[in-house]
Formats: sequence, C-alpha cells, structure tokens
Amino acid sequence: MKVNIGAVNALDPLPTTLVGAKVGGKPNYLAIAWVGIVGRNRISIALNKEHYTNAGIRENKCFSVNIPSESLVEKTDYCGIYSGSEVDKSKVFVSYYGALNDAPMIQECIINMECRLIDTIDTPYHDVFVGEVVATYCDEYVLVDGKIDLSRVKPILYSTSDKGYWTLGERLTSAWDIGKRWGK
Ligand SMILES: Cc1cc2nc3c(=O)[nH]c(=O)nc-3n(C[C@H](O)[C@H](O)[C@H](O)COP(=O)(O)O)c2cc1C
Repeated sequence: MKVNIGAVNALDPLPTTLVGAKVGGKPNYLAIAWVGIVGRNRISIALNKEHYTNAGIRENKCFSVNIPSESLVEKTDYCGIYSGSEVDKSKVFVSYYGALNDAPMIQECIINMECRLIDTIDTPYHDVFVGEVVATYCDEYVLVDGKIDLSRVKPILYSTSDKGYWTLGERLTSAWDIGKRWGK
C-alpha cells in the first residue's frame, strides 16, 4: 500500500558541493546540495537570498563548484553551518584561480568547475545562478583513461530527508545499454 507523505521533495541523494565566490575581495565557500544540470556545460545553483555569497557572485559574475571527497566532510559541513557574514571562511581551504580570475577554487577538492555567470533566476527564497562551466580541473590520480573515476573521487552524498551524509556504493551496470536487453 502507498502512503502519501505530503509534498516532500524526495530527490535524494544529491552530491554535496562547495560553491566558491569572492566576497569583499576574499574567497568565501558554502556547502550547496541544490545543484542542477541545465545543459551540457551549464549548471544551476540555488542559493538562499540570505546568504553572504550571493552578492559576490552578482558582483564578479562568476563562481566555482568544487567536489569535496569524504575526507573533507568536517570542513564542508563547517562551510554549510557558518556564514561568511559571521566567520572568515577564506582560510578554511587553499584557494587558487583559473582563467576567470575572480572565481576562487579549492585546492583540496579533487574536482573544481570554474563557472561564468550567464543567468540569474529570481525565485521567492532563492537566487538560482546559472553558470557556464568554462573549465574543469581535477587531480590527475582520479583519471582513468582520461575519464573521472568516481570510486577515486569519493563524493559526499547529501540526503535532505535524514540530513545525513552518505557514501557512494558500487557501480550497478552500464547506462544507455542495459535497457536494450529488456523485452528480449
Ligand atoms: C549539506 C548542506 C547543504 C546545503 N545546501 C544548500 C543549498 O543547496 N542551498 C542553500 O541556499 N543553502 C544550502 N546550505 C546552507 C548554506 O551552506 C549555509 O547557510 C552557509 O552558511 C551560507 O554561507 P554564506 O552565508 O557564507 O554564503 C547547505 C548546508 C549544508 C550543511
């Protein structure tokens, strides 16, 4: 029997990311799980309008999306608990910059996406920033035959329903392929 549990957003789990932007001339990072894919090289991030980071993204017209590994869970959570308006988060990680100059990226995260702001969607509680990924940097050791090997990334998965961090399980099977077997 099905139970209606109300209007619950059950899109769990989501990758936990650290979004970086320069605010007041300094890097600031916050944890963001509401990240979406808008097109091949376009991603969206939904930031509550109260956050300190938003003004920096608007001003510099760029941001970064960094993928922390399991070992960074404590620092990641810290950046999701405390606002740049109350603590200085610029020294939590080692920052570096790419072609856009104003999108701070995290050295310790093994994947960094440098994004140019191309659109901002105003919703009642969130600024949805749409970015074009202009470059993706990653540590060499996560590449197998030139492709990112998820088992080496060890992403932190976030579950809204239990406010928990989860780890990635095993690879199930090949997408765009297994379905060809059905009905045969
Ligand atoms: C796991 C996790 C995921 C989060 N995801 C989001 C999110 O998708 N959108 C959002 O607006 N805030 C999210 N937050 C909250 C912000 O990271 C948090 O309020 C942060 O302190 C804001 O930083 P800032 O004020 O320096 O910009 C998340 C927090 C955690 C711990």
